[in-house]
Amino acid sequence: MNLLLLGSGGREHALAWKLAQSPLLTHLYALPGNPGIAQYAEILPGSLTDLPGIVALASTKAIDLVIVGPEDPLAAGITDHLLAAGIPTFGPSQAAAQLESSKAFSKAFMARHNIPTARYQSFTDFDAALAYFRQWSVVSGQSSIPNSQFLIPNSQFPVLKASGLAAGKGVILPETLEEGERALREIMLDKRFGDAGAEVVIEERLTGREVSILAFSDGKTVVPMLPAQDHKRLLDHDEGPNTGGMGVFAPSPYCPPELIQQAMETAIQPVIDGMRAEGHPFVGVLFAGLMLTPNGPKVLEYNCRFGDPETQAVLPLLDTDLIDIMLACIDGKLDQIAPTIRWKEAVSVCVVLASGGYPDSYPKGLPITGLDALPENVIAFHAGTAYPPQSPRGRGEERGVVTNGGRVLGVTAVAPTMSEARALAYQGVEHIHFEGMQYRTDIAGESRDGI
Ligand code: AMP
Ligand code: GLY
Repeated sequence: MNLLLLGSGGREHALAWKLAQSPLLTHLYALPGNPGIAQYAEILPGSLTDLPGIVALASTKAIDLVIVGPEDPLAAGITDHLLAAGIPTFGPSQAAAQLESSKAFSKAFMARHNIPTARYQSFTDFDAALAYFRQWSVVSGQSSIPNSQFLIPNSQFPVLKASGLAAGKGVILPETLEEGERALREIMLDKRFGDAGAEVVIEERLTGREVSILAFSDGKTVVPMLPAQDHKRLLDHDEGPNTGGMGVFAPSPYCPPELIQQAMETAIQPVIDGMRAEGHPFVGVLFAGLMLTPNGPKVLEYNCRFGDPETQAVLPLLDTDLIDIMLACIDGKLDQIAPTIRWKEAVSVCVVLASGGYPDSYPKGLPITGLDALPENVIAFHAGTAYPPQSPRGRGEERGVVTNGGRVLGVTAVAPTMSEARALAYQGVEHIHFEGMQYRTDIAGESRDGI
């Protein structure tokens, strides 16, 4: 089969690595790809925003299956375009992708289907949003604050979310009234996230441990992958600003089979059933971001695709052919192969290496060394890398790679236990160097309740 993989991050490198192991694969193309993906795929030039261009390319190259990595082309309707041209595609339709592309849609959907989530209200009017935010803060017992700049430890101000896609940056957890009011202004009036902030969700702040459950679906049947735990904060001990994710481990020992079962019953199967009932069957990967609360799992968000960096830890544990699973999803036959989907009895840890300055501005084009000297069972998935300007682009070319993004590499190790996987991943990290490289030293660490 000829496959076309859309995307250029660490998630897509992990997908390419796994797809390349399938005996069903004849030729893998990637658009726009990266040097890591180029080890397995022929890179095609093009833009993920040029939907007709992608359809034309897929026809020209006789593509049998397109796999869509990131959310933006899904939200723009790439699946609908490709299917209309008769090209099988793994990834939900534009209507189904609203679960991620509109938090207002997603929250209303959860309310309609009694899915446990934070209490909320959504707004398109700034004054109404501001009044609600202030009122909620008063209800939470913050009305006696003498001035709004006063920081309240462990405050429970509501969470503010730009409804549209904002590259993971549209969620604000204010610690003060002033911070919340300023964020609302920036989102709704100054249009910091563009149109993504035209509507805002204001919701109850939940506490607990987070887990990401990704699940394959054919629109009817849904099969969970192993649960994973991301690390969103930049610094050790969960300090510093939020990022796109600084590391991940799987399976999460905090989400044992009983909890997965509960999440499937309350937060995952109801989505698949609800979307089908509403005329938008969800085919692809549904990603449920859950908070494990004393009252059971509650949904923080849905994504309509594989997680990044969750995929870099989860896919190395999958023992079954990924193309087989994707074809079963597209053909509506996931129930037939579900019992054959197998996972390794092992643990995977992924440590993200980021550019100095990330998540704010950072330099690009810095040489990366050590990628060819990694220990066995360690893989460096490329996220923000590129060839230097003069270097020849080509299949298998890996020497001379430079930094080209905030999160540069995801170093993943698989081992029988969490502590072995962690030690091996950090052993891999020690081989790699680029100027200003920063990473967390506590991914899957002992401080996490002794795992
Ligand atoms: P989201 O993009 O909705 O997953 O939000 C990004 C991150 O913000 C989540 O992974 C959580 O760490 C945090 N977050 C989102 N919603 C809430 C909430 N209602 N309560 C507490 N934390 C939240
Ligand atoms: N790791 C969070 C995401 O993929 O959105």
